[in-house]
This record gives sequence, structure tokens and C-alpha cells, in this order.
Amino acid sequence: MTRNITIRRATTADAFTLADIGGATFTETFGHLYPPADLAAFLKSAHTPDAWHRRLQDAHVAVWLVHAEDGAIAGYASAGPCKLPVPDLESNAGELFQLYVRASFHGLRLGSRLLATALAWLESRGFDPLYVGVWSRNEGAQRLYGRFGFTRHSEYEFPVGTQRDHEYILRRA
Ligand SMILES: CC(C)(COP(=O)(O)OP(=O)(O)OC[C@H]1O[C@@H](n2cnc3c(N)ncnc32)[C@H](O)[C@@H]1OP(=O)(O)O)[C@@H](O)C(=O)NCCC(=O)NCCS
Repeated sequence: MTRNITIRRATTADAFTLADIGGATFTETFGHLYPPADLAAFLKSAHTPDAWHRRLQDAHVAVWLVHAEDGAIAGYASAGPCKLPVPDLESNAGELFQLYVRASFHGLRLGSRLLATALAWLESRGFDPLYVGVWSRNEGAQRLYGRFGFTRHSEYEFPVGTQRDHEYILRRA
């Protein structure tokens, strides 16, 4: 089933595709946690074609798309210079910004493959150390990051509309 999966770098031509998969995967994973107005405000700021177009134009940021065998988009990831509120952040620190696979494709190692791709790119660009922010109750993702060498470093609050989520910042040196 995963034999003909392809991972490719996204370009500015993928802004609409990313708004679509970005909004769908966030809603599918976390949508039930927020009042509809907070969810809508977050999607409107983070997952519009314009917002994605800006990210895709940024030469310091990389975005990847996973295509399933029939061409459907199964997931995406993005990475670049660290923007997390890390105390005494190192000047060349990198960050995995996003890692999402559609629920219907979970458990097929696509997340691991995407993560390995993003980490290899960050390392090749000289980013060190690497950080990722993860919801404190997202234990599945924390297990996955742990397998790739990330350990808990600090904590912060991630805004979604008017709500603030408690997040862990994981670090990999
Ligand atoms: C995290 C995620 C990308 C992993 O993708 P995947 O293709 O299923 O991952 P793989 O098949 O390579 O590896 C499976 C591992 O993913 C993690 N995982 C499984 N289900 C998960 C879920 N519903 N949510 C988060 N992580 C999950 C576990 O670590 C699992 O390994 P385990 O069963 O041995 O504990 C995917 O589950 C996902 O998109 N989840 C929702 C979005 C999310 O939580 N993203 C991370 C935000 S920081």
C-alpha cells in the first residue's frame, strides 16, 4: 500500500493544496478541542492560501507533501529556523513546524518518512540543535519524536483563537 507513496518539496503552486490539507488535518486531529469560533479564527490565520503562499516564498523554509498512490495528498511537513519561545535560543537552531498525516493513512510509516526527510534537510542546512513544539497531551506524537532523538526541554502556551494550549518544546542536539 505504501510502495508508491512519494514525498516531494512543495512550491508556491501548492498554496491552495496546503491550505486544504493543513486545515483538514488540523480539524481532524484537534478540531473537537476548541469552540467553533476559535477553530475558525485559527484556520483563517494559519491555513489560508495566502498564508501558505507567504511560507512557500520564504527561502529559509521547506515544505513537503506526501502523495498516495492515486495522487491524493496524504500529509505534509514543514521546517525552518526555530521560532519557538526557547530561553537562550541558539542562533542556528532549527524547528520542525508541522507534521501531519491524514487519519486514513496513519500507521503506514508516512509520518516517520516525512520526519526523516525534514530532519535530513534541517541537518543539511546546518541547523543545530532542532526543536519541535507538541501538545502536552499528544502522547503518540511525543513517542514518535522520542524515537528520533527528541527529549523534553521546556514548555509554552500555543494560541488557538482565544484558547491557549499547553505545549512541550522538545529538543534534539
Ligand atoms: C504524528 C503522525 C504524523 C504520525 O504519522 P504516522 O504515519 O501515523 O506515523 P508512523 O506510522 O510513521 O509511526 C506511528 C507512530 O505515530 C505516533 N502516532 C500514532 N497515532 C497517532 C495519533 N493519532 N496522533 C499522534 N501520533 C500518533 C505513534 O508514535 C506511533 O507509533 P507507536 O504506535 O509505536 O506509538 C500522525 O499520527 C498524525 O498526523 N497525527 C495527527 C497530527 C499530529 O499529532 N501531528 C504532530 C503535531 S506536533
